[in-house]
Amino acid sequence: MALNVLVIGASRGIGLELVRQYREAGARVIATARSDEGLAALRALGATALRVDVANPASVSGLAWQLDGEKLDVALYVAGVMSRGNAKAPPTQPDFDRVLHTNVLGAMQVIPQVAPLVEEAQGRFGFISSDMGCIAGVDSCYSWTYRVSKAALNMAVAAARHDYPRAIFAALSPGWVQTDMGGPSAPTTVQDSVAALRKTLAQLTLADSGKFFMQDGQPYPGW
Ligand SMILES: NC(=O)c1ccc[n+]([C@@H]2O[C@H](COP(=O)([O-])OP(=O)(O)OC[C@H]3O[C@@H](n4cnc5c(N)ncnc54)[C@H](OP(=O)(O)O)[C@@H]3O)[C@@H](O)[C@H]2O)c1
Repeated sequence: MALNVLVIGASRGIGLELVRQYREAGARVIATARSDEGLAALRALGATALRVDVANPASVSGLAWQLDGEKLDVALYVAGVMSRGNAKAPPTQPDFDRVLHTNVLGAMQVIPQVAPLVEEAQGRFGFISSDMGCIAGVDSCYSWTYRVSKAALNMAVAAARHDYPRAIFAALSPGWVQTDMGGPSAPTTVQDSVAALRKTLAQLTLADSGKFFMQDGQPYPGW
């Protein structure tokens, strides 16, 4: 039977490619974007498009009724924003709020609405994290607000799985990827990154739930 897939934050980059590849594999895909252009790009791929701004709690709170009655084999939280800066200067309040609201608060607001639908299908709930959120072996303070947000996202995933024991939760690193965020110098194409993410997610079992996985599908040894 065709997979039921939800991708949150799919207007471009990794999210859009996830929609493309899952559609190509025959899945029924529901995907979110916050702009008219993003919604049009999703419809062009044959996805059901929902408007959600993950940094706006009122917008996120509408997701549950829009998904009423769905059973999700796969859900992915992809929306994310980057920020520069290091510990030589404090983050500004607007920049901190922008990054933490998008990368962490949005995910924490989505989980209670979407995880029960993933449990219904005994499915998988992936969260696109980053190597930059790995605490063990951190080698630079570059983009420290972003690092903090992804480390917090990993904790949200590790903790939330206890409340949804019939779903497989996973934080997933996509590698350094050629998107608007990753830039053209990134070593990995978005097609290869997404193929690896899909493979990793498909291979996980309940025993893996809550862990943080590297691009090659192995769990980070310490994080
Ligand atoms: N590229 C990399 O090298 C890399 C490495 C590690 C982790 N990641 C993570 O991978 C994920 C996807 O990044 P990407 O590389 O595909 O970046 P991207 O091309 O910049 O795309 C970011 C996506 O997030 C969406 N988004 C941002 N804020 C949002 C909001 N408030 N509400 C809804 N959607 C929002 C964007 O939508 P709009 O078009 O509306 O802005 C866009 O679809 C992010 O979580 C990122 O942190 C990327």
